[in-house]
Amino acid sequence: MDVRAGFIVSLCLMGFTCAVPVKFIDCGSCSGKVVMVDISPCPNQPCQLHKGQSYSVNVTFTSTVESKTSKALVHGIIAGVSIPFPIPKEDGCQSGIQCPIQKQQTYHYQNTLPVKSEYPAIKLVVEWELRDDNKQDLFCIRFPVQIVS
Ligand SMILES: *[C@@H]1O[C@H](CO)[C@@H](O)[C@H](O)[C@H]1NC(C)=O
Repeated sequence: MDVRAGFIVSLCLMGFTCAVPVKFIDCGSCSGKVVMVDISPCPNQPCQLHKGQSYSVNVTFTSTVESKTSKALVHGIIAGVSIPFPIPKEDGCQSGIQCPIQKQQTYHYQNTLPVKSEYPAIKLVVEWELRDDNKQDLFCIRFPVQIVS
């Protein structure tokens, strides 16, 4: 067993729920189909995001198009208002996806969601999109989260 697998097993033994798919809403994935969304650690849903921590996001999707590029956009929806949420790396091709993206191929998009300490402790909906060359969504998912101190 490698170090990383060992670490994950330890987390599981410590009571973290591992790789439980997150319930999400599809908000218009027209160039792809979402298979699964993983956020970790997220032992209970909606995911509680602690200020000052980083969360890993893993979206498994199948593309229905070819695309040379992919660009991620993240928004927080607070009381119906969509607010851009900066992520360290927008380029999907540097987030676990091997580009060019092929048709009918399944990919694991992996990124981190940093939760800054200055964020307010509120419930919100995270909208995560990955756009192809034509600015169409390879995936668009929405999932509720709760920011806690
Ligand atoms: C992302 O999820 C897929 C499907 O469960 C899994 O095969 C892959 O190992 C995960 N990647 C990471 C970094 O957790």
